[in-house]
Amino acid sequence: MFLMVVFHPRILSLAIFLTLVVHAFAQNETQFIYNGFQGSINKLHVDGVATILPNGLLQMTNYSQRITAHAFYPYPVNFRPKHLSFSTTFVFAMYPQVPHYSGHGIVFVISPSTNFTTAFPHAYLGLLNPSTNGQKSNHVFAVELDTIQNADVKDIDGNHVGIDINSLISDDAAPAAYYSDKEKENKTLLLNSGKVMQIWIDYDEIEMLVNVTLAPFRHPKPSKCLLSYQINLSIILLDSMYVGFTSATGNTANFHYILGWSWNQSGKAQDFDHSKLPSLPQIKHHKESFKQLFFIVLLTIVILLLLLIVAAVWLLWRKKYEELLEPWEKDYSPNRFSYKDLFVATKGFKNSELLGGGGFGKVYKGVLPSTRDLVAVKRVSNDSKQGIKEFIAEISSMKRLRHRNLVQLLGYCRRKGELLLVYEYMPNGSLDKFLFGTDDKSVLCWSWRFKIIQGVASALIYLHEEWEQVVLHRDVKASNVLLDAEMNARLGDFGLARLYDHNNDPRTTNVVGTIGYIAPEISRMQKPTTSSDVFAFGMFLLEVGCGRRPIGKQNDVDIEDFFLSDWVYDYWKLGQILKASDPRMEGDYQEKEMELVLKLGLLCLHPKAEERPTMRQVVQFLDGSATLPDIAPEYDVQGGYSFGDACGTSGSITTSSGTASLGVMSSTNSALRYGR
Ligand SMILES: *[C@@H]1O[C@H](CO)[C@@H](O)[C@H](O)[C@H]1NC(C)=O
Ligand SMILES: *[C@@H]1O[C@H](CO)[C@@H](O)[C@H](O)[C@H]1NC(C)=O
Ligand SMILES: *[C@@H]1O[C@H](CO)[C@@H](O)[C@H](O)[C@H]1NC(C)=O
Ligand SMILES: *[C@@H]1O[C@H](CO)[C@@H](O)[C@H](O)[C@H]1NC(C)=O
Ligand SMILES: *[C@@H]1O[C@H](CO)[C@@H](O)[C@H](O)[C@H]1NC(C)=O
Ligand SMILES: *[C@@H]1O[C@H](CO)[C@@H](O)[C@H](O)[C@H]1NC(C)=O
Ligand SMILES: *[C@@H]1O[C@H](CO)[C@@H](O)[C@H](O)[C@H]1NC(C)=O
Ligand SMILES: *[C@@H]1O[C@H](CO)[C@@H](O)[C@H](O)[C@H]1NC(C)=O
Repeated sequence: MFLMVVFHPRILSLAIFLTLVVHAFAQNETQFIYNGFQGSINKLHVDGVATILPNGLLQMTNYSQRITAHAFYPYPVNFRPKHLSFSTTFVFAMYPQVPHYSGHGIVFVISPSTNFTTAFPHAYLGLLNPSTNGQKSNHVFAVELDTIQNADVKDIDGNHVGIDINSLISDDAAPAAYYSDKEKENKTLLLNSGKVMQIWIDYDEIEMLVNVTLAPFRHPKPSKCLLSYQINLSIILLDSMYVGFTSATGNTANFHYILGWSWNQSGKAQDFDHSKLPSLPQIKHHKESFKQLFFIVLLTIVILLLLLIVAAVWLLWRKKYEELLEPWEKDYSPNRFSYKDLFVATKGFKNSELLGGGGFGKVYKGVLPSTRDLVAVKRVSNDSKQGIKEFIAEISSMKRLRHRNLVQLLGYCRRKGELLLVYEYMPNGSLDKFLFGTDDKSVLCWSWRFKIIQGVASALIYLHEEWEQVVLHRDVKASNVLLDAEMNARLGDFGLARLYDHNNDPRTTNVVGTIGYIAPEISRMQKPTTSSDVFAFGMFLLEVGCGRRPIGKQNDVDIEDFFLSDWVYDYWKLGQILKASDPRMEGDYQEKEMELVLKLGLLCLHPKAEERPTMRQVVQFLDGSATLPDIAPEYDVQGGYSFGDACGTSGSITTSSGTASLGVMSSTNSALRYGR
């Protein structure tokens, strides 16, 4: 039965026929794959500028303008009426000469011939020309990858994929994009970005659908295609056709590359062996290198600008905190504070931190940032260049001056036109606030006053005699006596007068001190001495005892010129010296001590320097180890009064001249001279 079937002639002939047909179909179904085009010169028909690079890269065009290129499978493929289906895919890249503006494109073509001598570049992509465009006799099926929008061929944009039938006016087109299955959305692709991409073109003759799918290279084929166009290709495709690519540039050019290509009429085009695909050459587009250069220049400018700003800020910062530091100051560096620290400490020398304005400059309260120590910063605004060296030397030595009744100098800082002195902070401020303040609560009781007097005297004797060199204070007065937390007297501002007095010639020495406290011999252009400090101390004694300022109008004394020394002296002459005492104490004081203080004050205010007691004698009088010489109430202007030895048991006060009264003591210029 079986044999019968086999050998039945009709069946046999049918079987032979079928085998032949299948064989014939098999013979006519072309399939190939180029994983790169190495050694394909004979297996690929190229013309124009198209060339296969040594690494197997098919370079269609370069940056030459208005050129065309063609690369075709050298053998015709058959599209018999019953076999129109095909599947093809290729990997390509387009490097633009001018990013986003270069052209024109690559076209996958199925064409009856490979003779494109009449084809135009530009928008005709090396495939057709204006006269052949659109002719039915062309029998061309193409898929264009177009990077330039051209109105002649009705391009939809400058970055699209189109299906072209006999014409470069696309039958269907879409902006280059792909469907991301992961993100479930369409993603735009820039064809001439220089990036490698893959495209799939599938046609099924039963469905009559051309599907075009685009994706970045190495991206799996998206499940949704970019274009799906229905067409019966049987009227377009002839039995024998050529498949390949045309490409063209225009007034600007792209490097057009094809890395691999596979074609299959028997099934799905095989995917590539990625490891075999050639790599792209390193190409720098002009525009990009220009852009890079521009970017580099811009970056450089920006960096320079930033540096400049930083430098400017730094300089301003420097300027703000600029200090003067000369080489000779190196030796004194331990005594130096940084201006920045002082600036921060005093909150930028804020008015709210102002403690007062002394004779030489404003004083600010400050908290040192490093140690949180409270300090007083004196800003001496006039630092004369000349004397500064000696003065700094003196400050440095003054830093070593340590006495419980001196305000400790902690250090200094120097800027242009400014000297800053850093002192211990005295919480209770200066004595004058207590003596002359209007606030009743601030009235000092006698025991404190006497203790303060003794403290100041002790500080002065230390400066005059007990330290390694004689230091003149030169500005002893109530406002320079500060009070610490325990209300101990602390003499401040010592030595500052030196700043203004660097000339060794006594004749030109500027008068320094405070009017009312300046000894007459200084006003007569004599060098200050310890006894001129004693003079000022005498005035200080009267200030403390009487609670009055040395000169000028007093609120309760209604005379034009008032000289405290004369005023006390007048009471003394009347034998009522205690009446000069501070009324605010309401008589609540030690009479003996008060008398001692006032009389000692007058003694110290003696017009003749040599008649004044020394500080040592003053201290002895104050602590009772020596008795104040008894001063006769009848003040004999002619006879004078001489002050004897330390014990001072015998002596008398004498004026410097017969006509001058003690008023001379309190005045430093003729306008203030008080003669009678
Ligand atoms: C492009 O290729 C052609 C042919 O190989 C060559 O003559 C031309 O100089 C090339 N142009 C550029 C810009 O490299
Ligand atoms: C290509 O076509 C042109 C015109 O159609 C013709 O002149 C030329 O000889 C053809 N070239 C080849 C190689 O067939
Ligand atoms: C993606 O593009 C295709 C074709 O252009 C369109 O039909 C589809 O709606 C788009 N899908 C999304 C998610 O935008
Ligand atoms: C083309 O795409 C459609 C859906 O977009 C699909 O139904 C069809 O099978 C595809 N044809 C080919 C040949 O891939
Ligand atoms: C396509 O067109 C040809 C010729 O006009 C025709 O014979 C064929 O049936 C068409 N195919 C389909 C699927 O309609
Ligand atoms: C063509 O398709 C057939 C059937 O799917 C497959 O076996 C063959 O490898 C394919 N060839 C190429 C070159 O794609
Ligand atoms: C500094 O002192 C000198 C001389 O004593 C004086 O001429 C000058 O005006 C003073 N400068 C300032 C800023 O006070
Ligand atoms: C002096 O200062 C201390 C500490 O700041 C304070 O307790 C005291 O009351 C002050 N004395 C006077 C009289 O203001």
